Amino acid sequence: MAGRIVLGTQFGDEGKGKITDYCAETANLIVRFQGGNNAGHTVKIGEEVYKFHLLPSGVLRREKLAVIGNGLVVDPTVLLKEVGELRNRGYEVDNLRISDRAHVIMPYHKIIDGLEEQLKGKMKAGTTMRGIGPCYTDKVGRWGIRIVDLIDRQVLKEKLDVIVPIKQRIIDAFGGSDRLDTEAIWEEYAGYGGEIKDFVVDASVLINDVLNKGEEVLFEGAQGTHLCIDFGIYPFGTSSDCTAGAALTGTGVGIGKIQDVVGVMKAYTSRVGTGPFPTELEDEIGEHLRDKGGEYGTTTGRPRRCGWLDSVMVRYSARINALTSLAVTKIDVLGGLDKIKVCTEYDFNGQILTEFPASMKVLSECKPRYKEFDGWEDHTDEEWTGIARHGYEALPEEMKTYLDFIEEEMGVPVGIISIGPARDQTITMD
Ligand code: IMP
Repeated sequence: MAGRIVLGTQFGDEGKGKITDYCAETANLIVRFQGGNNAGHTVKIGEEVYKFHLLPSGVLRREKLAVIGNGLVVDPTVLLKEVGELRNRGYEVDNLRISDRAHVIMPYHKIIDGLEEQLKGKMKAGTTMRGIGPCYTDKVGRWGIRIVDLIDRQVLKEKLDVIVPIKQRIIDAFGGSDRLDTEAIWEEYAGYGGEIKDFVVDASVLINDVLNKGEEVLFEGAQGTHLCIDFGIYPFGTSSDCTAGAALTGTGVGIGKIQDVVGVMKAYTSRVGTGPFPTELEDEIGEHLRDKGGEYGTTTGRPRRCGWLDSVMVRYSARINALTSLAVTKIDVLGGLDKIKVCTEYDFNGQILTEFPASMKVLSECKPRYKEFDGWEDHTDEEWTGIARHGYEALPEEMKTYLDFIEEEMGVPVGIISIGPARDQTITMD
């Protein structure tokens, strides 16, 4: 009976795809618990690169079950596209399961996402325009469409007859020009229901059965703690709960089944979308991180804003998620920099803050206070692979000092160090 959660400690894009794939080795079932196709997970296996937005990264491990939990919002067009692409690359995708309770992103959600962003002015989050927020809004408003509705033509029709005319009025009121056709949406989405129905299960039963057999389940987070609807930089984050608590509510598993919570932390910080970002670097070091780290959104292709590691942020995530270990990613990207900085506290108009503030006004006025470290030499991809083969001892001494500091500062042991995108560029600590 072992549940292990892997989640992001920053603004998403910490490299969770790779870490999840790595941790999936020992798991029998991998389940995503929140978000939708706003996520972008990149997994590199040999020379093959796979990019997912919706499917759990674990789907690449054919012998393991890969589950979309009830906490997700599922765009069936994306689901079928990703399944189709994998089939074209030789995967049967017969290990995929989808919770009957997950919510469905409908065409009007995507339209309303765009309209709301236009109307929100300074409050706009810079969303991925995938309809995520409006779909979660409907879930909470109790007029969402769930996967179970999609596979029942009659129920779907009855719901759409109520919902679509109201959505049309909202679109009109928001100044949109799109026309919704209930019959056409019904036919299209009932068709998707038919195509996905063989994947659909009561996922909570499945996951608990696996756990009760004493097998390992990996709970795969998307986005990151600082994008969470409750604990993120509200209102500039996403619309789902991205914390360890969501691994339970987003899958139908109880707290006693969780053994480990792995926080994925990039060795620096990056952010897509709007909102305050105290350690942002708008200089050549920021450029170095963006270029060397390939910091362009997997989902939207937008250049990511980059900055130094912010331990105020990560300590907050360590507390909220009760992290049992850290997976430090992309530390190789810092190679070649003379000095490396970590923000340990904020200066808010002369007042020192050691805790992450709730107020975006306060956060936007916070100046980072840094600790400085010596950098280390850069290496080629092949050299990093060689270093990984020799393990922790082979890492540059300055990097070890940086890692020791991270452990002490966050109060969480470092369990995994990632020094490149490939599976064999990973070091596990005993
Ligand atoms: P939404 O999730 O599309 O509603 O976007 C809300 C905010 O979360 C925007 O600032 C997005 O850029 C950000 N966001 C959503 N998903 C991700 C992710 O997987 N990585 C990083 N940022 C994300």
